Amino acid sequence: MTENDASALRERAAAELLAARDRTTLLTTAVDDTDLVKQHSPLMSPLVWDLAHVANQEELWLLREVGGRTPMHPEIDPIYDAFEHPRAARPTLPLLPAGEARRYGHEVRVRVLDQLDRTRLREQPATFGESLTANAFAFGMVAQHEVQHDETMLATHQLRAGPPVLSAPPPPAPADAAALPAEVYVPGGPFTMGTSTEPWALDNERPAHEVNVPAFYLDTTPVTNAAYAEFVSGGGYDDPRLWTSDGWAHRQRAGLTAPLFWRWEGEWLQTSFGIAKPIIGNEPVLHVCWYEADAYARWAGRRLPTEAEWEKAARWDPAAGRSRRYPWGDGEPTAERANLGQRHLRPAPAGAYPEGAAPSGARQLIGDVWEWTSSDFLPYPGFVAWPYKEYSEVFFGTEYKVLRGGAFGVSQVACRGTFRNWDYPIRRQIFAGFRTARSGTGRSDTGRSATEPA
Ligand SMILES: [Fe+2]
Repeated sequence: MTENDASALRERAAAELLAARDRTTLLTTAVDDTDLVKQHSPLMSPLVWDLAHVANQEELWLLREVGGRTPMHPEIDPIYDAFEHPRAARPTLPLLPAGEARRYGHEVRVRVLDQLDRTRLREQPATFGESLTANAFAFGMVAQHEVQHDETMLATHQLRAGPPVLSAPPPPAPADAAALPAEVYVPGGPFTMGTSTEPWALDNERPAHEVNVPAFYLDTTPVTNAAYAEFVSGGGYDDPRLWTSDGWAHRQRAGLTAPLFWRWEGEWLQTSFGIAKPIIGNEPVLHVCWYEADAYARWAGRRLPTEAEWEKAARWDPAAGRSRRYPWGDGEPTAERANLGQRHLRPAPAGAYPEGAAPSGARQLIGDVWEWTSSDFLPYPGFVAWPYKEYSEVFFGTEYKVLRGGAFGVSQVACRGTFRNWDYPIRRQIFAGFRTARSGTGRSDTGRSATEPA
């Protein structure tokens, strides 16, 4: 690696770490200290836990593992080990008070930036999993870790009761939604799934491998609130035939009748970061669990896409015969291409971001809402757990469903065409929606518009 390449990489790593910290700071200074230590939902940690946990992980990976330095406060390590304490138990831990957590984070960061300057950044080795410093992987991993907690903290803000404290400008309007076809056609055949070259891709995205995907149709945009409201008023929640048996049992047990944060008051209201307003019909539906998404798809005479279908629709460029980094190409996400980075605090209406369209014609695959797929979270052939098996390997299996594409709460450093997220099929506090698919060859237009139900 040339000195110029190494310094560009250092600059990028420093910029991503800084951007992550700016967001963490905003999310943890928007509320007072009482709110910071409070648990707003048993599903979430107190915000003050996240605050010190990101610093602790940063110290662990970048100062101890990469820098070979001695622990700054070894006594707090167990408190911030996510695997030792489930979220529900975290408020009972002797957590660092807000001021101390901030000071710790700052002290770690000053040392990390110094460490970044002196670390020799080698070129990526042929085998993934050999070096934490190759292409500054560990620095990229830590930046991704912090922004993932920023997304989690945003979900905590959404669950928090009380007057609103966050605001953001509205996302862009769709330019030509009425003219968009309801679905796009993705021809059958092999494509390259996953990556072996993306420098900061995490272990579960690797390695690149060929997958044969038969022809299918995919919704051009995520399913909208208006379409989902038709499912609700059409009795979708009362018809067990639309649900898997596990899904129906959960729907009964949990008393599901509409997406989380929806409330019926003569019309559907949706609470978003403390403000209740009528749902926006052409906005992608949000806060539905996998079981709800799956039932909707069946009601619409369709199904959820598999993970491979989703990735092929998002990345496969048939003209060039290769997979892109993002739907629009290999260039980084911009404000014109995708709704990412908490720039807006809601998804953009269906049909927005024409500049972010995939070769298939599908829109908003990156950003806006996480999209449930029908697939279980499983390793790719040739998977190597690295740098720790608790990142992905311990979650592989049929318990978790894969989500793709990122949401408005996700930062671009942790979002790309190969990025895989996973969660339990009952989870609704995450920023998840979905789109539907159907198998088939040959083009045919169903005639429905993208914002209407099938
Ligand atoms: Fe974490």
